[in-house]
Amino acid sequence: MGFDRRSFLKTGLVTSAVTALSRSEFAAAAVSSKAEQPVPSPHSRQKHLMGGGDPRRAGAFKPLPYTNTDELSLADGFSWYPLLRTGDVINAQGDKAGDCCDYLHFMPGRNPDQAFLWVNHEYLIDNVLYGKRVVASSKTKAQVDFEMTLVGGSYVELTLTNESNGSRRWRVKPDSVHAFRLTAHTPIAMVGAAGGRTAMGTMANCSGGFTPWRTILTAEENFDIFYGTSENGFRSHYGWGKYYKRSELDYGWVVEVEPQTRAARKLTALGRFAHESATVTVAKDKRVVVYMGDDAKGECLYKFISKKKLTGDSRKDADLLVEGDLYVANLSRSEWILLSPENPVLGKNKKFSSLKNILTFTREAAKIAGGTKLNRPEDIEVDSVSGDVYFTLTNFAEAGDPYGSLNLIREKNGDASALQFEFETFLTGGLRSGVSCPDNLTFGPENSLWVCTDMSASAMGKASLERFHRNSMFRVETDEFGSVFARHFLQAPRDAELTGPTFLPDGSGLFVSVQHPGESSFSKQGVGYTSHWPDGGKSKPLSTVVCIYSTDQKSDRFSR
Ligand code: FEO
Ligand code: CA
Ligand code: CA
Repeated sequence: MGFDRRSFLKTGLVTSAVTALSRSEFAAAAVSSKAEQPVPSPHSRQKHLMGGGDPRRAGAFKPLPYTNTDELSLADGFSWYPLLRTGDVINAQGDKAGDCCDYLHFMPGRNPDQAFLWVNHEYLIDNVLYGKRVVASSKTKAQVDFEMTLVGGSYVELTLTNESNGSRRWRVKPDSVHAFRLTAHTPIAMVGAAGGRTAMGTMANCSGGFTPWRTILTAEENFDIFYGTSENGFRSHYGWGKYYKRSELDYGWVVEVEPQTRAARKLTALGRFAHESATVTVAKDKRVVVYMGDDAKGECLYKFISKKKLTGDSRKDADLLVEGDLYVANLSRSEWILLSPENPVLGKNKKFSSLKNILTFTREAAKIAGGTKLNRPEDIEVDSVSGDVYFTLTNFAEAGDPYGSLNLIREKNGDASALQFEFETFLTGGLRSGVSCPDNLTFGPENSLWVCTDMSASAMGKASLERFHRNSMFRVETDEFGSVFARHFLQAPRDAELTGPTFLPDGSGLFVSVQHPGESSFSKQGVGYTSHWPDGGKSKPLSTVVCIYSTDQKSDRFSR
């Protein structure tokens, strides 16, 4: 489709011999030199593939080899330290961090040595919690009540401390008076056309977003595994429904959290589905736009456009996500389709002649309206320079897509409120890129794009996924000829996924959640803990937020 690749293309990355030639000159030179040059064998080319990055990029970190050790493996020149582990105390009241850390958002504090971090807690690994295989129906109410404290989110205070070795590290302030938790026990009001009631708690908090008026968006994804749901016949994995009768219609929303007041509410205007993420940007006319993926096989990509415009005054802007229009993407027609009774396709349908029903049963309405079924749309990031919208499709092996892809939407005129766009697959998962099952995205220093993978613990390292071993993080690189490469940067411990990547504003480090190490522990007879990360030995695995930094403290190491 003729995309000029990329505003995140770092200039001066290729050798002068290459940059001196136009694309056609380069092709001609390649042909004329064919007789003298040995033809590279498929094997010699392979070393530049499989996470090898752009081979002409001088000064870049050396790609990390793919391994199968139970470690957080890093490219040479980088190291890490733990920041927040499951069960760590986060405030003076003794509240503790939940399990399965995911979305992270870093907020500078009142001075350079203070900061705040939002951490999503998506679910819990009950086999690891109890140290044995657990049958949901045998859980006591006390156990379920405790499990309900392990999901939701944590707002933690960080302090930049001087370490004995002379380094400076962010540490969680365990006696903070600002830190707080949201859990499955927290009453949360529901606002908007499908609201008007209070839901009990939030869970399945996967990825999220941050608004210009400084609120957190935390996205409820696989809510059906806690209490179960009648909608798709999914049986509750955790069995909480034995003790608590909850309406499934109270979950599957985006939750907005105001950290100063600790107020939380569910935004029904953004629809109800397995919300992976909620990525906020602002249209040219100052309406606020939220891009969202529904992470399930054959589900859709959405965007919300606020009714009112951003003013820059937080008090006036606070309700911008309460009212607006929800759209679903049709990739074959390259257009966003309105999900409203005003759309005649929905308006003439008895069930969907009300906005409340469209917002509540969004998946069904989206299909009727013509939304394109996709291979697990997960995280979304907007390039702040170009406005291009990147989104991952993790995979759909049964539909012939075992490795997924990284995709690009370019809105008409670069305007987030446009209803037409161009679309392309930007990076194909698989052996060439070395990226298998892309999920979380983030932009880093010099507008570099980074991607984390999410092979499930049960499929990881097996069959067609064998050579990738474990989940990874990559830097995406481009050259001026339109080639896209992925440079292997991190690899997770056994069973784990790298989630919530976020670079510190000064480029000095990367926070990332190491989620669910040892997830398949006690999954079968004779299987014990499948990971002992981070403590090693015979210890229980623990989900942990970590800080990655360059060992020589040079902040351009992430972008060279
Ligand atoms: Fe929670 Fe779709 O990842
Ligand atoms: Ca995710
Ligand atoms: Ca995931």
